[in-house]
Amino acid sequence: MNQLALVTGASSGIGFHIAQQLAQRGYDIIGVGVSDRILELPKRISGVQVIPLRTDLTNRNQVNDLWSRIEELDRPLAVAALNAGASLGGAFIDTDIDDELNLLELNVVSQIILAKHITRHMANRRSGRILITTSLSATTPTPYESIYGPTRSFMYSFAQGLREEMREHGVSVTALLPGATATEFHDRAGMQQTKFGDNSWKNDPELVAKLGVEALFDGRDHVIGGDRQTRWAALRNKLSSEESKAKRFSKDSKPSQ
Ligand SMILES: NC(=O)c1ccc[n+]([C@@H]2O[C@H](COP(=O)([O-])OP(=O)(O)OC[C@H]3O[C@@H](n4cnc5c(N)ncnc54)[C@H](OP(=O)(O)O)[C@@H]3O)[C@@H](O)[C@H]2O)c1
Repeated sequence: MNQLALVTGASSGIGFHIAQQLAQRGYDIIGVGVSDRILELPKRISGVQVIPLRTDLTNRNQVNDLWSRIEELDRPLAVAALNAGASLGGAFIDTDIDDELNLLELNVVSQIILAKHITRHMANRRSGRILITTSLSATTPTPYESIYGPTRSFMYSFAQGLREEMREHGVSVTALLPGATATEFHDRAGMQQTKFGDNSWKNDPELVAKLGVEALFDGRDHVIGGDRQTRWAALRNKLSSEESKAKRFSKDSKPSQ
């Protein structure tokens, strides 16, 4: 029987390519998404067993229910890619607080709940690999996406700390930090009137997923997801002040009208 991998946000973008590449490596896939299109995943990925589980990760009961359904499979989880996430563009004084609280549930709370179950499960078997998709936005203030960046910083720091804890349990944790990537992400965030609204200049999600999956199997602590320019931007963020990074980011994220 194949080994089993969980991928959240597997119906589109980076998560779909992570799922596809894990399938190419012979893993059966549990794919999670919020809309009905996750049910199409078995048709889009062939050669392995694909189990689509529709779950709204902003809802804590559904997150716990997702884990129960995974446990009912009674199979060890070899890989878990916590990848589902979203953003919300616009000035903080204009954005809706309920939308922002939902973003925290999806980008942070659901990931911690799943990580709690997954780390205990993997530690019991003294084996497993966890990939956490955060963002290059973890390394900069993100004006006009003011809640999103901090959710990615949280997950990046969480991944690095968890990695150290899980080492003695035989489980590795890797963070993937994509730069801007050509998916549905910025459109869903309502950022059409910004530089991020244009997908033509962004990284290819297949490449970003490849870098993440390779880093996962190499047992690396993190990898920058993107091309040379993205790696350069990551280096520049290390060397710049928070204030100058905030100014630079707002040039791309501030709506033009
Ligand atoms: N694109 C970028 O520029 C970029 C840059 C840096 C980091 N990232 C990170 O990469 C990750 C994936 O983003 P992406 O660019 O691939 O975005 P995407 O194309 O919009 O895909 C998002 C995925 O998450 C799922 N999802 C959204 N809300 C959900 C919910 N409430 N419950 C369960 N699943 C939900 C979606 O499912 P449905 O299809 O069913 O809606 C979809 O599968 C995110 O964590 C993001 O922070 C993206």
